[in-house]
Amino acid sequence: MGKVGAKGDSYYGKVAANYQKRRAKQGWWAVEQDEMKALLDTLPEGLSVLDVPFGTGRFVPFYNARGDKVIGLDASADMLAAAEEELGDQFQGCKTTVGSAMDLPYPDDSFDLVSSCRFIRDIIIKPDALKALAEFARVTRKHAIIQLGEHSTGGADDVAALSDTIPLHSQLSSKGNEEMLKGLGLKIVEKRLVKDDPEDASHVYHFLLEKA
Ligand SMILES: C[S@@+](CC[C@H](N)C(=O)[O-])C[C@H]1O[C@@H](n2cnc3c(N)ncnc32)[C@H](O)[C@@H]1O
Repeated sequence: MGKVGAKGDSYYGKVAANYQKRRAKQGWWAVEQDEMKALLDTLPEGLSVLDVPFGTGRFVPFYNARGDKVIGLDASADMLAAAEEELGDQFQGCKTTVGSAMDLPYPDDSFDLVSSCRFIRDIIIKPDALKALAEFARVTRKHAIIQLGEHSTGGADDVAALSDTIPLHSQLSSKGNEEMLKGLGLKIVEKRLVKDDPEDASHVYHFLLEKA
């Protein structure tokens, strides 16, 4: 399953400045963009959106085109600076904050949509992923789009069975993801494949969720 440790603290300095230039060359970056756009197309326009971690604000042009109000939170001020640089005029309407996804500085039910890409699956260890997911469920009024991994043959059905010292990666089965999300008050509306490793039966999806 290619398990590696958490990478949350590495998005500063040169890594932040070069983040999008390097990642945009990956084949699945464009798939993520397309699938995020396709899921946004299923939602009403003019939403208030919290994108966390904001990174380089890669989905901002989609939100702006829909007239959404964009709020971005990231632990790295350098990533937010890279977003400003990358987005140019598109950054103007965004309200960005440095903070932690595990302790969001917003009241309950603050946003119509919380979106989170390239984070819960591999950037933070499991206990932090569960904290962040609970925070996403708390601050959204209705929708969430969250990237999660899944294993289609040997995945765990119960998140409690997984190690606390590594990220979730694609260790959960379809049932495992469904149960974990249900426990957080989130119902799966649909999921879209963004990355596939058939040899290893591990997959990455964008889950469109609704607060139950
Ligand atoms: C792989 S990047 C993903 C950025 C963006 N969502 C994307 O899809 O390109 C991971 C991001 O998580 C941020 N990060 C790491 N730990 C965090 C935390 N505890 N709270 C908020 N952001 C965090 C990093 O600064 C970095 O911008």
